[in-house]
Amino acid sequence: MAKTTAPPAPRIAVAIMAAGKGTRLKSKHPKVLHEVGGRPLLAHVIAAALKVAAPADVYAIIGHEADQVRAAVAQTGVNFILQEEQRGTGHALMTAREPLTAYDHVIVLSGDAPLITPETIARLRDFHLARKAAMTLLSADLADPTGYGRVLRRSKRGDEVRGIVEQKSATAAQKKIREINSGFYVFAVKPLYANIGHLSTDNAQHEYYLTDMAGVLTGKKAKVVAIRTADPAEVLGSNTRAELADLDQRLRRTKCRQLMADGVTIFYPETCVIDSDVEISADTVIEPFVQLLGKTRIGGDCRIRSYSVIRNSTVGDGVAIRPGCVIDDSEIQASAVIGPYSHLRPGTRIGEGAHVGNFVETKKIRLGKGSKANHLTYLGDAEIGEGVNIGAGTITCNYDGVHKHTTIIEDGAFVGSDSTLVAPVRVGKGAYVAAASCVTEDVPADALALGRARQITKEGWAKKKRGE
Ligand code: UD1
Ligand code: CA
Repeated sequence: MAKTTAPPAPRIAVAIMAAGKGTRLKSKHPKVLHEVGGRPLLAHVIAAALKVAAPADVYAIIGHEADQVRAAVAQTGVNFILQEEQRGTGHALMTAREPLTAYDHVIVLSGDAPLITPETIARLRDFHLARKAAMTLLSADLADPTGYGRVLRRSKRGDEVRGIVEQKSATAAQKKIREINSGFYVFAVKPLYANIGHLSTDNAQHEYYLTDMAGVLTGKKAKVVAIRTADPAEVLGSNTRAELADLDQRLRRTKCRQLMADGVTIFYPETCVIDSDVEISADTVIEPFVQLLGKTRIGGDCRIRSYSVIRNSTVGDGVAIRPGCVIDDSEIQASAVIGPYSHLRPGTRIGEGAHVGNFVETKKIRLGKGSKANHLTYLGDAEIGEGVNIGAGTITCNYDGVHKHTTIIEDGAFVGSDSTLVAPVRVGKGAYVAAASCVTEDVPADALALGRARQITKEGWAKKKRGE
């Protein structure tokens, strides 16, 4: 029997066009770094690309503010191609010629359309391969196609395309076409680069339009086909601030729906801002106007009350965050109670069942299991043990004007109200600090420290002052 060998799998690259300036945003920041759903536009597109290709096969074409763009997404491991002058989407692909000729096909994505899904990219790729096309484009039927390129089909029925016409060049009749070009394509690399030289800048914007490749290729009798998206929302671009707001809202809504499907209660989800990477376990309740940002993780059975903003923090199970807390880069263990109006700054670690109350600010501290700092206090650079009581108005004086120093408060200590602890200083296990003390020396275990002037009482003084 003759041996049959399967044809080798085609080599497929992904090129993401992300070099444009984004003039219509009227911004000094590059367009693809504007954020929706808490992540830059480009990061969304790269994340989708990395679900269908390895980082080594993904190329981001960058240009405007290239260093900033590169730095923002470098950790994804994708390659970068520099398009120094941005002379259009066709020119972007001309710039990428060198690395891309090592592949059989290239999937081209727009860095400013962040809702694209890996499933749709895979569907586009598979359709292109099955149809053995030179160019395949993803299209969508939009109720309002204004501003987009329009797809000119060969016939009503078939999937073949004659060309794409940009809004600015379209005739009145063509402007009525509702099928738009999404800016997502797959090209067979050979016909793309054999013919890309035929693109011209003879158009309204004096740019090389990648969209013109459809007409160029059909002129050479090469096959160009289109496939419609199942969900037209996936291809929405973000050329204006209003479009960015719309995309952001869609992403937030989707995120809230996913969380609710996973057992999280969210009151008035349209008022909450929850970033894509946030994780929340079941039976946690999120009240209106809460922001959960960055890589925040929240356990189960928590209640996050209104107007709290939590960023890059970990919250254990059964924690209560009362209204108005600001929490950054902190860790809160199970059953703790925070707020109302607590400010937990980076490096704060709150132990199990501990309480932090109103107008308490913390920075780089550990507050041990069951300890309490309930009122009007600043705790910075402190190691606080278990079962400690920090009285109202206590302040760790951690800064001498030049250096930061540590305050250590051991298990079971009691710090009376209005105490100032001048670091470096240690309050030993089970010791007491009398109210209103200024503590500058270490307090041994089980001792009482008094650091305040003795009270003087002058009988009748007030009466005399009033002249009675
Ligand atoms: C493009 C399409 C249009 C389509 C729409 C979908 C062209 C000529 N038109 O228009 O048919 O309906 O997308 O959203 O392609 N870029 C570069 N280098 C450049 C120019 C642009 O990398 O020199 C990048 C941009 O950063 C952007 C993407 O390519 O991420 C698309 O460019 P943009 O100017 O937004 O094209 P549209 O006008 O939206
Ligand atoms: Ca665009």
